[in-house]
Amino acid sequence: MSDALQPNAAFKKRVFSGIQPSGGLTLGNYLGAIKRFVQMQEEDYETIYCMVDLHAITVWQDPAALRRQTRELAAGFIASGIDPAKSILFNQSQVAEHAQLGWIFNCVARMGWMQRMTQWKDKAGKNSQNASLGLFAYPSLMAADILTYHATHVPVGEDQKQHLELTRDIAIKFNNDYGVEFFPVTEPVIEGAGTRVMSLRDGSKKMSKSDPSDASRINMTDDADTLAKKIRKAKTDPDALPSEIDGLEGRPEARNLVNIYAGLADMSVDAVLRDVGGKAFSEFKPLLADLAVAKLAPISGEMARLMQNEAEIDALLHTGAEAARAIAAPILEKTYEIIGMVR
Ligand code: TYM
Repeated sequence: MSDALQPNAAFKKRVFSGIQPSGGLTLGNYLGAIKRFVQMQEEDYETIYCMVDLHAITVWQDPAALRRQTRELAAGFIASGIDPAKSILFNQSQVAEHAQLGWIFNCVARMGWMQRMTQWKDKAGKNSQNASLGLFAYPSLMAADILTYHATHVPVGEDQKQHLELTRDIAIKFNNDYGVEFFPVTEPVIEGAGTRVMSLRDGSKKMSKSDPSDASRINMTDDADTLAKKIRKAKTDPDALPSEIDGLEGRPEARNLVNIYAGLADMSVDAVLRDVGGKAFSEFKPLLADLAVAKLAPISGEMARLMQNEAEIDALLHTGAEAARAIAAPILEKTYEIIGMVR
């Protein structure tokens, strides 16, 4: 990559990230993404956060559920500390530029690149002939989400890393094909203890809203009793917790619970182990449950309060979409010009 193509040289420091409204918010979304979104809002960035409803329909969504989940996700963002006065917050389908640039990127990205995406392989599974074309093209739309704002930084959990590499490849190929330095080469921001929160039932699987077992995940809307019960039942091993990080080697469930503790407490894993090393899980789990309730109950309470006024959420999303469009439209227009469309 030439120096000229390095991110940020000629671009404003701008953050974009998105979450699918394809189910309820999980602790994985919170620790892996939203917590960092809130921090970046307070740092030296312009921040744009999106409920990616067009991505959600790459697999079947019941329309009424999708509407509810989109509003609930908006409530989750706000309850977690995203301030619509500081960040642009909106849902993707209200800003047509995403889909428009997505089409152009479908013509830049190569079939081979898409076929290598592990998330496509996982989600399409053995029945890929029956998966939607949208699911295959998903990462190209994701690149458009980011690049239609010339975003330079994208905070995500570990599972999105490959998609962000593809976003860089698309930007580089577009710039090379057309002999321009138009799209920035985005920086993934994958930081902290919460970038890979695992299932409570199986430490080798990601915590996910699509896991059929509700006991595998902590939902942001779980009440205190449910939360405590899920943590109490979380899979562990028979040994006590180690005092040093090396002692978590080969113990995925123990590592996961310690990571969750560190993420919730804003501590490093080392610091957590200094405090809890030597404790049995029967002692550690109640500490974790108390911490989780203390951190998450105010968020779920606020989400429930916000959900009582859907009109207010919808109005906020409209305002956010207008602000988003004001940035995206000129960038799309310039893109059309670069590629030779008569305007
Ligand atoms: P999604 O909706 O699956 O997840 C939203 C964010 O939460 C993170 N995340 C996790 N982090 C840690 N541990 C977990 N168990 C966990 N589960 C989810 C994800 O990494 C993500 O940051 N393709 C994206 C949505 C998207 C997007 C974008 C993201 C569409 N366009 C543009 C960034 C920029 C997705 O499906 O995320």
